[in-house]
Amino acid sequence: MAGEKILRVVDLCKSFHRLEVLRHISVDFERNEVVSIIGPSGGGKSTFLRCLNLLETPTSGHILFDGVDLCAKGQSKHIDAHRQKMGMVFQQFNLFNNMNVMKNLTAAPVRIKGMAKESAEAKALELLGRVGLADRADAYPSQLSGGQKQRIAIVRSLMMDPEVMLFDEPTSALDPEMIGEVLDVMKNLAESGMTMIVVTHEMRFAREVSDRTIFLDGGHIEEDKPSHELFAHPESPRLVSFLDKVL
Ligand SMILES: Nc1ncnc2c1ncn2[C@@H]1O[C@H](COP(=O)(O)OP(=O)(O)OP(=O)(O)O)[C@@H](O)[C@H]1O
Ligand SMILES: [Mg+2]
Repeated sequence: MAGEKILRVVDLCKSFHRLEVLRHISVDFERNEVVSIIGPSGGGKSTFLRCLNLLETPTSGHILFDGVDLCAKGQSKHIDAHRQKMGMVFQQFNLFNNMNVMKNLTAAPVRIKGMAKESAEAKALELLGRVGLADRADAYPSQLSGGQKQRIAIVRSLMMDPEVMLFDEPTSALDPEMIGEVLDVMKNLAESGMTMIVVTHEMRFAREVSDRTIFLDGGHIEEDKPSHELFAHPESPRLVSFLDKVL
């Protein structure tokens, strides 16, 4: 359904002790939308993403996912079920070093979703093919480049059939020559209709691939617009000066 709100954030605040990191954030994300979040270091981007899948507990406010308020009393017992619908890809790939690629990919679907091993392996091979790594199923993480590891980490998330994919600077730990291969995978994913929220320093990705870009600074949303508009006509002085520095 076009325009369907998959995630709604209402008046979200998050403090760590006395440090207010997120201040009254309200924003919606639509199904199939690709949204980039940009902003200066320490502005709260990672904290915001982590609140979305409740890796951090919001101090106040609401997060509605498919219409269910994840912050409401009584939802905490369903958190794992909600989280399974949100894939998360981090800067550090967090693969299990003692397992080969196939095992990394199939462990969770088999154990958590009760998927048959054979179906999980078939699905893994299909997805590996889509990211150009069909021949690396038997490799161990130590035998892979950073770009390959990150593509595997993306596949690992996809194995769980997420409704939304959250990315926190997925290319920041990579050597420059490997950034492109990961961005290409993300671009294909975006084109396939995946709903994606991407914290990124890659301004070209934000501008060219994402539908919308949010500038998060000082714990609140300074600007939130269609990407081409935000980059062509930044309004907030803080965004103008941020773009001056990074472009
Ligand atoms: N677990 C925590 N305990 C205390 N303070 C924290 C914690 N996590 C984050 N912070 C603080 O919250 C603020 C926002 O951090 P956050 O990591 O969300 O920023 P960011 O926008 O992702 O920055 P970067 O671009 O450097 O990744 C920072 O001042 C940080 O020190
Ligand atoms: Mg961060």
